[in-house]
Amino acid sequence: MSNIISISNIKGGVGKSTIAINLAGYLSRTGKIFLVDADPQGTICDWNSIRKKDNVVNNNLIITDEPYSDNDLKSSLKSEALNYDYVIIDCPPEDDLIMRTALAVSDFTILPVTPGPFDIRSAHKTVQTIKEGLQSKAIKIKPRILISKKIVGTVLGREAREALEIFKIPIFKIEICQRIAMSESGITGMTIFEYEPSSKSADEFNKLGKEFKKWQKHT
Ligand SMILES: Nc1ncnc2c1ncn2[C@@H]1O[C@H](COP(=O)(O)OP(=O)(O)OP(=O)(O)O)[C@@H](O)[C@H]1O
Ligand SMILES: [Mg+2]
Repeated sequence: MSNIISISNIKGGVGKSTIAINLAGYLSRTGKIFLVDADPQGTICDWNSIRKKDNVVNNNLIITDEPYSDNDLKSSLKSEALNYDYVIIDCPPEDDLIMRTALAVSDFTILPVTPGPFDIRSAHKTVQTIKEGLQSKAIKIKPRILISKKIVGTVLGREAREALEIFKIPIFKIEICQRIAMSESGITGMTIFEYEPSSKSADEFNKLGKEFKKWQKHT
């Protein structure tokens, strides 16, 4: 099964790690997940240290102890993936060897974009890297944009979808909004399903997980 998903955007702070963690949380309810921190900043490893300290247990969610290098991704990830239902890679905010290798080993990439003129413009660079890789056949990835950290009720939020259509890449119907529960869950080392399962954010990640599975089924 095609099961490696990377979360990529060279723009920093768009919600990549948050989406990696919570999509992993969703998928771990029905399968075994390997969540790979491929960002030298180690955001997911740090989050995992809090989990371990606070004894948050989910036997279906296995997390890298140290950030993976491009060599780790290249040499072992494809074979490691055979032991899991899904692998999720959190990419760094750089168009570097790690990100390019992550794209090369992935079957799918989710590209989070926050609404805003600068954010949409800088997403262009990541889209370009993906399109060039597909053209040269260096990668065989299915990309999809995800509107992330949308501020409810803003004009920018409403207009983001139309603005993103210029990239000619499919866009998830579900949008992840900026909500306090999301930033709080990150600090506490929990997924949103562990922190506040009945929140609007948990509902958004339920919908994202379902939409992802539907996409996977039809590709
Ligand atoms: N939906 C959301 N609602 C509220 N806060 C959010 C949401 N998504 C992310 N954040 C917060 O925004 C900040 C950046 O998020 P995150 O670290 O996931 O982004 P990133 O793209 O991985 O950043 P980097 O490029 O530095 O790796 C964090 O403080 C996180 O808690
Ligand atoms: Mg990150």
